Amino acid sequence: MTLVAKGLEGIVANSTSISDVRGDIGQLIYAGYDINELAGKVSFEETIHLLWHGELPNPEQLHKLTSALRAERSLPPEIIDFLKSVPRTAGPMDVIRTGVSMLGLFDHATGEHANYERAVAITAKIGVIAAYFHRLRQGKDLPPIRTDLSEAAHFLYLINGEEPTKEATATLDVAYVLHADHGMNASTFSARVTVATLSDMFSGITSAIGTLKGPLHGGANEGVIHMLQEIGSEDKVDAWLEEQFAKKAKIMGIGHRVYKVLDPRAPHLRDMAIKLTDQLGEPKWIRMSEHIATVMREKKHLNANVDFYSATVYYSLGVPTDLFTPIFAISRTAGWTAHVLEQLADNRLYRPLSEYTGPEVGKVVKPIDQR
Ligand SMILES: CC(C)(COP(=O)(O)OP(=O)(O)OC[C@H]1O[C@@H](n2cnc3c(N)ncnc32)[C@H](O)[C@@H]1OP(=O)(O)O)[C@@H](O)C(=O)NCCC(=O)NCCS
Repeated sequence: MTLVAKGLEGIVANSTSISDVRGDIGQLIYAGYDINELAGKVSFEETIHLLWHGELPNPEQLHKLTSALRAERSLPPEIIDFLKSVPRTAGPMDVIRTGVSMLGLFDHATGEHANYERAVAITAKIGVIAAYFHRLRQGKDLPPIRTDLSEAAHFLYLINGEEPTKEATATLDVAYVLHADHGMNASTFSARVTVATLSDMFSGITSAIGTLKGPLHGGANEGVIHMLQEIGSEDKVDAWLEEQFAKKAKIMGIGHRVYKVLDPRAPHLRDMAIKLTDQLGEPKWIRMSEHIATVMREKKHLNANVDFYSATVYYSLGVPTDLFTPIFAISRTAGWTAHVLEQLADNRLYRPLSEYTGPEVGKVVKPIDQR
C-alpha cells in the first residue's frame, strides 16, 4: 500500500538557507537569526536584505536596497487604470493577485540580474497596488508616491492620505518583519512549484498570493476580527466556543501545522496588541482574545498563531479588516521572492505522485448513445 502524506505533512520538499521553522521548540530562524533577536532590532528593509542576500546589510548596502525599492514604487499608468476599473466591492487580495500578474505584462528586465530586479519591483509595488485600490474604492484621491518614507510608513501614508505617527510605523514595521518568511509554508511552496517549471517570477508570486488568501493560511487574520465581532463581549466567549466545538468548527488564529508549542511570533504581536488597545482605551478585544486563547490551550491543547494577535494590532492601527491579509502578502513578498531566487539558482521541477483510488483499469468505452 502506498503511504500518502496527506497535506504533505512531514515531507521535506527542498532545502533552503532562507528560514527555518522549528515547530517542536517554537523557534523561527531567518538565515541564522532567531526571530526574537530580529524583532524590534532590525527594520523590514534590513530583513529583506537578510532574506535576499543571507546577511544583514551594512549602511551602504541598506542605502542601496532602500533606494532601489523606493525608486520602483510608481505603478504603470495602465495598472492605475485597471485599479480604477475594478468593482469597488472586489476583495483586495483578488486585486493584488491580478495587479501583480499585470505587472508581468510591463516587465522589461533583462540580463543576469533580471529576477533580482523583478523581486525589487514586486516588493516595492505590491503595497501601492493594495493602498491605491483602497483609496479608489472609497472615492478618494491617490496620494503621490513618496521616496522619503520606509516601506511601512509609505503604506500607512497611502491608505490614510497622511504621514503616520512614528509609533504606528514602528508597529507595522515589526509586524512586517515577523511575517516576512516562514519556511516551506503553503504560499511559498506554491511560488516555488510555479517557478520550478521555469515559468516566471510574476506567475510565482501570483500563485503565492492566491494561496495565501485562503482562511487556513493568511486569510485567518481577517477571520479573527469577524470572530471577535460575532462573539461581541467577553462574557459570551465560553458559550460561543462550546457551540463551535459542537460543530467541530475551526477557530481562526488557533493551531498550526508545524508549531506544536507557541508560535514565537505570537507573543510579539500580543504585546503590541495589549499596548495599542490600552492606548485606544479599548481593551475589550484583547481581553476576549486572551480568553479564547486560554480556553483553546486548556481544553484543546492548541496555541494562538501569528494571525491571532496581528488582527487586533492592525485593527488598532485603524486598518480596514480586508487589508489584513494584503498586509501579510506585502511583507511575505520579501520571503516569496527570496525563495523564487533560491529555487531558480538550483532548480528542479516539483512533480510528486498520487495514490490512485479510482476504479480498476479495464472499463470499455460504450458509444455515447448507450451510456
Ligand atoms: C493551521 C491549520 C490549518 C493546521 O491544520 P492541520 O495541521 O491540517 O491540522 P488539522 O486540521 O488536522 O487539526 C488537527 C486537530 O486539531 C484540531 N484543530 C486544529 N486547529 C484548530 C482550530 N483552529 N480550531 C479548532 N480545532 C482545531 C482539528 O479539529 C483536529 O482535531 P481532531 O484530530 O480531533 O480532528 C489549522 O490549525 C487551522 O485550520 N487553524 C485555523 C486557521 C488559522 O489560524 N490559520 C493560520 C495558520 S498560521
